[in-house]
Amino acid sequence: MELKLDELVQDSRVHRRIYLEPEIFELEMERIFESNWVFVGHESEVADPGDYKTVPIGTQPAIMTRDEGGEIHVLMNRCTHRGSTICQEQRGNTHTFRCWYHGWTFNNKGDLIGVPYANGYGGSFDKRNFSLIKAARVERYRGLVFASLNPEVESLADYLASAKYYIDLFMDLSPQGEVESRSGIHKYGYDGNWKFQMENGVDGYHPNFVHQSFFETQGKQLGRQAMQLFAGNSECESKDLGNGHAILDMAPRRAATTRPVPNLLRGATSRASSDAYIESLIRRHGNDRTAEILAASNVNLAIFPNLLVIGIQLRITIPVSAKRTDVHLLPTTLKGVPDEINVARLRAHESFYGPAGGGAPDDVEMFTRCTEGLRVKGAEWLELSRGLERERIGVDGLTVGHITDEVPQRAFYRRWKALMCGVAQSRQIKPLRVARTV
Ligand code: FES
Ligand SMILES: [Fe+2]
Repeated sequence: MELKLDELVQDSRVHRRIYLEPEIFELEMERIFESNWVFVGHESEVADPGDYKTVPIGTQPAIMTRDEGGEIHVLMNRCTHRGSTICQEQRGNTHTFRCWYHGWTFNNKGDLIGVPYANGYGGSFDKRNFSLIKAARVERYRGLVFASLNPEVESLADYLASAKYYIDLFMDLSPQGEVESRSGIHKYGYDGNWKFQMENGVDGYHPNFVHQSFFETQGKQLGRQAMQLFAGNSECESKDLGNGHAILDMAPRRAATTRPVPNLLRGATSRASSDAYIESLIRRHGNDRTAEILAASNVNLAIFPNLLVIGIQLRITIPVSAKRTDVHLLPTTLKGVPDEINVARLRAHESFYGPAGGGAPDDVEMFTRCTEGLRVKGAEWLELSRGLERERIGVDGLTVGHITDEVPQRAFYRRWKALMCGVAQSRQIKPLRVARTV
């Protein structure tokens, strides 16, 4: 029996077709990526006038630019003459983009400013009619730049809903309240659907299995037993943040530690550096907020549909086709901290997530294995029921489960279904403020 689109995603399971079929992928581009907010980058990637980076919105090529007045634009990378992309570089600095095909030239606001041999065009030709297409909306939250091709899309602040609280924690790890992403991008791709990456970024069930070899190697290096990241008795939680966003909240475990240094840095920085860092946080935020920030400093946060905030990185999931995905990892540094702290952050990031890292390549292997396994007909469904009978509504109105439960994946697919079937309405949830002490 042929299932309808809204039957492919159910409360506790999803159908294998949503990972495989080009027709569903095309609908996802239209109804999710081209109709909602998507993350395009961090403002520090285009810090100076003339800076740009290229980034797709769904499968449509775009360019994020900063003009001479400091404004950020998201321009579609499509010459208005006969369709060529006008920018091939990943990033750079320029005040103009000249199309290589016939030389039409645009400024970094998207205006057409030059046409070779212009007298070949009649008097009715008006350059103002040939500006680059722009994203209908561009908004920022704490340095994160989002774009939407839909002029009617809700405000970004409403869209981010309760995720703002966790984005704030991530940014407030800097005593200046700002991170930067100027350490380059590392990239990987895999033969599999984009949703595998988004599911995995907030999957607390898999680390002890997929990453077993990493934990064993790390244990040997430290002369300890291999770490178990989230076992069945963990106090950590998974949370549905509304609008498809979700988080693995590891704060309860960190709150129990005696020395309030973020996990990523522990052992890699001198006592003097970490003390100076913490004092600078206390000067800016006070004791209680500093404790709260440090307790929640290592997050796995998913912002629907394409951003993951994991460890120190912003990770962009880029759909290419139903069975091909690119991923860009943007490591961040903290503004206003001793260099030693940022160096430790970057080295810790590389050791797990880098091209020769011990963790991320193993996740990618699972995505390709899932893609292969899903060819099997007769087993049609992927099971997402873990924790369904023990999830609960927390004091803030959010659905909360054990960290190994599939609360985040169910949150993702509720939003997916609502958008794909045309009934999405953002859920307004009061901002989360939970005081924690270290
Ligand atoms: S396609 Fe760009 S100038 Fe002709
Ligand atoms: Fe993983």
